[in-house]
Amino acid sequence: MILVTGGCGFIGSAFVLDWLAASGEPLVNLDALTYAGHPGNLAEVEGRPGYTFVHGDIADLALVQSLLQQHRPRAVVHLAAETHVDRSIAGPEAFVHTNVLGSVRLLQACLSYWQALPPAEAAAFRFLNVSTDEVFGALARGDAPFTEQHPYRPNSPYAASKAAADHFVRSWWHTYGFPALTTHCSNNYGPRQFPEKLIPLMLHNALEGKPLPVYGDGLQVRDWLHVQDHCAALRAVLERGQPGESYAIGGSCERTNLDVVRALCAVLDELRPQAGPHARLIEHVPDRPGHDRRYAIDSNKVRREAGWGPKIAFGQGLRSTVEWYLAHREWVQSVTSGSYRDWIQRQYPGLETRA
Ligand code: NAD
Ligand code: TYD
Repeated sequence: MILVTGGCGFIGSAFVLDWLAASGEPLVNLDALTYAGHPGNLAEVEGRPGYTFVHGDIADLALVQSLLQQHRPRAVVHLAAETHVDRSIAGPEAFVHTNVLGSVRLLQACLSYWQALPPAEAAAFRFLNVSTDEVFGALARGDAPFTEQHPYRPNSPYAASKAAADHFVRSWWHTYGFPALTTHCSNNYGPRQFPEKLIPLMLHNALEGKPLPVYGDGLQVRDWLHVQDHCAALRAVLERGQPGESYAIGGSCERTNLDVVRALCAVLDELRPQAGPHARLIEHVPDRPGHDRRYAIDSNKVRREAGWGPKIAFGQGLRSTVEWYLAHREWVQSVTSGSYRDWIQRQYPGLETRA
């Protein structure tokens, strides 16, 4: 069996659903259910044999130790994190707690567990550290995309906290020979993404007729990958990646934020012509402090060594994502509760009143 952390979040829930659909191997999901974690994301597997949910914090060393002893996983897939850059700018401490301290406690518990395993099980054990491309900082236009060799230059408190975890993972391999692998993925999109991130936030606002707040000139570039493709990459790295190595994962799909928002509006215009044109709602707002200009990924290593490649074209993935949100308005209602509204008011002052 495997232990997954953060399985109630956006990528975690896609990974859990994928895993249980594709393999009969049991999975335990440890999640603290922060504002970003929703047990409803996994309602369809709740109670199913082979799926166990544990409500808890990865920084709770005694809890993680007892879970490892009880379930004896052959692998840990570590996704739990605080993930939103804007929230890390507003309050970095939660990022230190989960992304740094939580990751280190998880590593400590896993190291003792792994050191006590019989040799064949120890040789097969894997710890997959799900990191981000943001640890590499920003690219300028014309720079070559990030590879695994790119120096670490984290610019946001979020990226700094993820970089810290990556350095501990690297040291666990170097010092103890602990069989860890790290992935650096670009921006994901797809169903069940919390509506604080670009695509679901714009979608949520557009459906409510509210302004679409584009930071600065909107010409920042991200490399978009559908969450299903990311999950397939994680499985491929888990099965075929080499311990001690890292793998950059991306969709080779660079788009400016304005292009993404306009593409989203075009899909909405098609699906809800009576409410269009949605692009009239685009509004430029003050830029994010320290905003990274461009991310792009060179995925050659993961393609070559793990046999992975993206399958979902951006246009097709964006359309199916919009369709998912349109068909799951109750999901959006349930996650955009009181604390969500507080966040939106603090982050986008005046935006609600301009609707
Ligand atoms: P998310 O914010 O949607 O979900 C995070 C999950 O972690 C939530 O279920 C939350 O309850 C849980 N969690 C938070 N703190 C915890 C703690 N202390 N103990 C246990 N659980 C805790 O995040 P996501 O977008 O699904 O990202 C998952 C991972 O992938 C993160 O490590 C992130 O850095 C990485 N990543 C994300 C992207 C992206 O575009 N979303 C891209 C590359 C890498
Ligand atoms: P986001 O989804 O927060 O991901 P990340 O910062 O990890 O890349 O943002 C994606 C891009 O969209 C980023 O360049 C910031 C921009 N953005 C906006 O322009 N407006 C918004 O309201 C948000 C949330 C993001």
